[in-house]
Amino acid sequence: MASTALICDTEPWKDLKSHVEDIKKTHLRNLMNDVDRCKSMMVEFDGLILDYTRQCARKDTMQKLFKLAEAARIDEKINRMFNGERINSTENRSVLHVALRAARDTTICSDGKNVVPDVWNVLDKINDFSEKVRSGSWVGATGKALKDVVAVGIGGSFLGPLFVHTALQTDPEAAEYAKGRQLRFLANVDPIDVARNIRGLNPETTLVVVVSKTFTTAETMLNARTLREWISAALGPQAIAKHMVAVSTNLPLVDKFGIDPANAFAFWDWVGGRYSVCSAVGVLPLSLQYGFSVVHKFLNGAASIDNHFKSTPFEKNIPVLLGLLSVWNVSFFGYPARAILPYSQALEKFAPHIQQVSMESNGKGVSIDGVPLPFEAGEIDFGEPGTNGQHSFYQLIHQGRIIPCDFIGVMKTQQPVYLKGEVVSNHDELMSNFFAQPDALAYGKTPEQLLSEKVPNHLIPHKTFSGNRPSLSLLLPALSAYNIGQLLAIYEHRIAVEGFIWGINSFDQWGVELGKSLASQVRKQLNLSRTKKEPVQGFNFSTTTLLTRYLE
Ligand code: F6P
Repeated sequence: MASTALICDTEPWKDLKSHVEDIKKTHLRNLMNDVDRCKSMMVEFDGLILDYTRQCARKDTMQKLFKLAEAARIDEKINRMFNGERINSTENRSVLHVALRAARDTTICSDGKNVVPDVWNVLDKINDFSEKVRSGSWVGATGKALKDVVAVGIGGSFLGPLFVHTALQTDPEAAEYAKGRQLRFLANVDPIDVARNIRGLNPETTLVVVVSKTFTTAETMLNARTLREWISAALGPQAIAKHMVAVSTNLPLVDKFGIDPANAFAFWDWVGGRYSVCSAVGVLPLSLQYGFSVVHKFLNGAASIDNHFKSTPFEKNIPVLLGLLSVWNVSFFGYPARAILPYSQALEKFAPHIQQVSMESNGKGVSIDGVPLPFEAGEIDFGEPGTNGQHSFYQLIHQGRIIPCDFIGVMKTQQPVYLKGEVVSNHDELMSNFFAQPDALAYGKTPEQLLSEKVPNHLIPHKTFSGNRPSLSLLLPALSAYNIGQLLAIYEHRIAVEGFIWGINSFDQWGVELGKSLASQVRKQLNLSRTKKEPVQGFNFSTTTLLTRYLE
């Protein structure tokens, strides 16, 4: 393709546009009867099973999608990413989060320099520092051990670490290492979030980790100042050196803020905020809570998927398959949303994290060359753990709009419960739903079935399920730190594949800037009105009225 060409102008795209009309004539019920087809739609790697038999696709659909991948030069784009080329062209940056979890002896270059030794310098520093804090050899200003950590950060400096922390909390190995310790996350500038996060904490035993790639994000910096004041007021300003550390790419600003750069943990501009959980952004708070050895397993799980993604043919490549199927659903069926449905309470923060990774990456309106897209890119991601979601929004998924679903299940629970006298454990009960829901969506229930069940005529329309609703199932062997790393990397790469196909830049986020600059104008106005009693001006009627009322 020429650089400004759009994927929708290629033959494989056009071919899929007509192919989808053909597929729409076939119900999933019938597709599911083709065992040969189904066999080809199950992929295993490193203990994981991906089952995409319930996608509205046949074997020839997949061949056409692979052709689309070739037309989009996915292979080349993956290589360019791993080779450290500046594929984030609007910010002139490489995209190398894979280097964050690479083994020590790997070579991954950015601008001709192997970045892996730098990554490991920081990991070694985290290992050392977290061990000192955990063992009590690094103590607070009054000589007490620091048992509690508040990580202050927002967006990518918050959601990924929160997801991993939530997932590890009930892992028996991680929980053992976390005994007697607390990790909290302060993200929202809302004073309620501040109050909730410091409630019950003693500044003498608390370590604050300020996490901000830029060290300029308004919410994070205000929250960091608030906690600096909280520590200073209780222990004196000299206590900051022992009670506050930072994670950032901007070490001069860390210094200016009053945190000793020796207590700062660096990362690099080739790590996008939403892809930064494997950098010090996630590794530091998680190592303080669980110890570095647990976090290292998480990194290894992600690295295993990185290697799989880089080296596996499309037919067996889990992130590539998932990315292609998402494009199939969004761009050819026109389904705008995707539900992320983990049947594991430990994964309750997975959907919120993927929401950012996906929607900030692929919610774009122009191609990487700045050409307006004549098709919609990105999808609306949302989700809740099963079975909670079943009692909430599944009604719409079953009988309302068509929303492709990702069912994520775990074979071995972190916390088994067996009730005396009951054969089916809690986990079996949970997984019964995990196995049942995809079939309910795919097969539905016909009026004929309802008639044979003697359902009264007037209820038949209400009780009919059209079926033919796509989903896929991802079954993890367990939910250890390693598996959590695998899951993260699968979704990160899947989202990159989607962006590579759509021909967009999945690694910038200009869409968040306008709101930030407007908020800064409002902030200036509030300042002037509060200090100099100046009237609200320069805003439209609506904002002027509301601001004036707020100031009253
Ligand atoms: O919301 C936009 C954003 O730039 C995200 O991409 C980023 O993760 C977040 O703000 C936080 O940024 P920082 O880590 O620089 O504070």
